[in-house]
Amino acid sequence: MTTSCPSSGPPAQSGVDAVLLGRLIDFSGDPAAHGRVAVRDIPDGALALKDGRIVWTGAAAALPALFRGAPQRNYGPCLILPGFVDPHIHFPQYRIAGAGGRGLLDWLDRFAFPEEARYADAEHAAAAAEIFLDLLLAHGTTAALVFSTVHEQAADRLFAAAARRGMALAAGKTLMDQGAPPALRDDAETGLRASERLYARWHGQGRLRYAVSPRFAITSGAAQLAAAGAFLESYPDALMQTHLSETKEEIAEVTRLFPEAADYTDVYDRFGLLGPRSLFAHGVHLSARERARLSEAGATVVHCPTSNAFLGSGLFDIGPYLPDAAAPRLAVATDIGGGTSYSLPATLGAAYRTAQLCGRRLQPERAFYLATCGNAEALGMGDEIGRLEPGFFADLVVLNPRATPLLAARDALSETLADTLLALMTLGDDRIVRASWVAGQQCYPKPEV
Ligand code: GUN
Ligand code: ZN
Repeated sequence: MTTSCPSSGPPAQSGVDAVLLGRLIDFSGDPAAHGRVAVRDIPDGALALKDGRIVWTGAAAALPALFRGAPQRNYGPCLILPGFVDPHIHFPQYRIAGAGGRGLLDWLDRFAFPEEARYADAEHAAAAAEIFLDLLLAHGTTAALVFSTVHEQAADRLFAAAARRGMALAAGKTLMDQGAPPALRDDAETGLRASERLYARWHGQGRLRYAVSPRFAITSGAAQLAAAGAFLESYPDALMQTHLSETKEEIAEVTRLFPEAADYTDVYDRFGLLGPRSLFAHGVHLSARERARLSEAGATVVHCPTSNAFLGSGLFDIGPYLPDAAAPRLAVATDIGGGTSYSLPATLGAAYRTAQLCGRRLQPERAFYLATCGNAEALGMGDEIGRLEPGFFADLVVLNPRATPLLAARDALSETLADTLLALMTLGDDRIVRASWVAGQQCYPKPEV
């Protein structure tokens, strides 16, 4: 039964704005470390929302009488989870997913750089930002860490669009002072100043965060990497995002450019770029030394399985990424447009298949933990999103385990939560997303006005 939409319903007499009913799933930690106690599964659950946050979570039968008068949305057997968090995605590549190059460097030259050059036009960037955020929400992604282009105004447009939607978004202007077409280059000084202005304008506004964003060690020389390190020292609450050890061809080029460094990770380390707010995309070919150093620094390695397969970058082995002291924190991301799906569940399916090819197993509960709580913690947002706890933002995704005829047939055979989640990972895409909510408002599908 569906009653009135919370955003359009009468003023609540109940002390809360809305009550959502459905099967509640969330994770208090990594099931690979803590086992079943880290998994919460409430088949007939209720969430009470007020002022954009969750105020009560539990079995519907135990919903306090006071909240029963609030507008209700009953999602029946659908799963209500914390909204997905995408910790590595490129906004200006929103429409080049599926453009095939010979490998990363060729793909950057032929597809990514020409497309990113269009973002010199701020109006193009503004229109693209709306499409990009619509795509995220249609796939159940309610928060993200995003690369913009080198253009300051394009990042402004992205932040402004996210602010209007009340989304938790971290983003940064790309820094590139070499190895890219002249129209896409800044320099150490201008890139730093633009990053500082963007930080001043957007960091801490609503739910926005700034991420200093050197693209990678091929397109940022020593002076620019040093400037990025100086930025992090000045603004320790900012994030840092870059790419690391994605392909063998890239590693060979970095070794040529930085012969004094012990390895690729050491290039970034020498410039002060390793820390608990630093996220390194890919890490396909890291050595044990590099993983140990990233772990020691508290940094995150972001696994991007559809991208690694599409660009032929290599097989990321999750084997070493067990939650112990010697492994860096692991996150999982789409990496659109090297990646081929905006869907975090589909990305988890790709991570599962990659693990299989490496002789490993990715538990479905662990996979969904990573896409919610784990990714939120990697972004330093783990105390506000990623769980269905009272006090957390009501950023939610509602998944229909019977969204397609095939899923319905498959779901009829599911006996455990792991079965249900694995089916969503392997067979799901945007069709499984019944609704997305940001800060207590349904934003996908867009409510009728
Ligand atoms: N390495 C440097 N830039 C990029 C990018 O845009 N996409 C991917 N997949 N890898 C990169
Ligand atoms: Zn990337």
